[in-house]
Amino acid sequence: MATVARNFTRSAFRSTPSTFRTTAARRTFVNVPRQTLRQSFRRGFADEAAPKAAKADIILGVGFVTALAGGYYVYMINNATGANDKAGASGNFQPTFEDYQKVYNTIAKALEENDDYDDGSYGPVLLRLGWHSSGTYDKETGTGGSNGATMRFDPESEHGANAGLKVARDFCEPIKQQYPWISYGDLWTLGAVCAIQEMQGPIIPWRPGRQDRDVSFCTPDGRLPDAAQEQKHVRNIFYRMGFNDQEITALIGAHALGRCHADRSGFDGPWTFSPTVVTNDFYNLLLNEKWAWRKWDGPKQYEDVKTKSLMMLPADMAFVKDKKFREYVGKYAKDNDLWFKDFSAAVTKLFELGVPFTSGEESRMRFKPTIES
Ligand code: HEM
Repeated sequence: MATVARNFTRSAFRSTPSTFRTTAARRTFVNVPRQTLRQSFRRGFADEAAPKAAKADIILGVGFVTALAGGYYVYMINNATGANDKAGASGNFQPTFEDYQKVYNTIAKALEENDDYDDGSYGPVLLRLGWHSSGTYDKETGTGGSNGATMRFDPESEHGANAGLKVARDFCEPIKQQYPWISYGDLWTLGAVCAIQEMQGPIIPWRPGRQDRDVSFCTPDGRLPDAAQEQKHVRNIFYRMGFNDQEITALIGAHALGRCHADRSGFDGPWTFSPTVVTNDFYNLLLNEKWAWRKWDGPKQYEDVKTKSLMMLPADMAFVKDKKFREYVGKYAKDNDLWFKDFSAAVTKLFELGVPFTSGEESRMRFKPTIES
């Protein structure tokens, strides 16, 4: 059932022009009761806000189901795929492309099997883990970045910006147990690559080489962007990593995926109507919808005037307020292929920041997605 729904959603989103896709998805989303949508468009819709009275029940219910699903997940990973890959046994083991493809396939399988989370996929939160482990990089001092996987430790795991990422780290843990030869830094970034590709995004070239480090390499708080701020802050943060305006704009399109969670960042809601499919809809919606401040008692965020079901952060809105960012937003809104190409290049660069590779760029691997696109 889940597979049928997923394939349908995929082909529907892939074969229609972006503007139509947005409108059609919206119409479906607005008119069809929530439960029907949950069952038939598991990976292609955005949730409505649950009525207040029902919320506590839902949270308890979700907690119970998540615990059950989590237990099943660990069991599934350790048994169905053959516990502890033989390669893990030897300290001298030199993994090949095929070994990394095996890890990729295991992550893809876990994503597919565990579709009762959030909007139907752990993909978005896995991508956020890869990004937050890399986005601490400082080009002046060479500190931070995905080398080290220091978010395993306090204080980095407790930094406000990393709230909620335990979910993604826990998702990766059984895979680490099965392939003990891979470092956490490599696994988290490979997980994010897999998430993008399995959600129908572009191929993201990737190479191994991250080494796990101890707690003394944790970065200070404040290296990741603050969603309540605008273009000046966004530029400061991403220039520190070594990105230019075009690359920053290409990266922010990742907000087509997933959602904000009130119990994590304080913000609430998804950016698009298809939060588990990689599309350029973030740019289209940002440019073409009317946005107004949401009236609520949470942090200041925007909502779309038409359906009041989508959101934008003040930091997202900076990409249309700023003239230079806005130019690139216009280009990516018009041309999904251009965005895929630039997004792929910028994500590869992000995940490689500060990594002491012993092999050159030509050794980057291109994993085969397990889904047909
Ligand atoms: C100005 C830069 C950025 C800001 C201020 C920002 C802020 C945020 C915030 C507040 C959330 C919600 C977290 C939660 O409540 O669960 C979020 C989620 C997310 N972000 Fe960003 N972000 C930025 C850039 C990026 C980049 C560069 C990527 C990836 C390339 C990314 C990928 C994601 C994804 C996939 C989610 C959804 C996670 C989920 O559904 O659990 N973000 N971001």
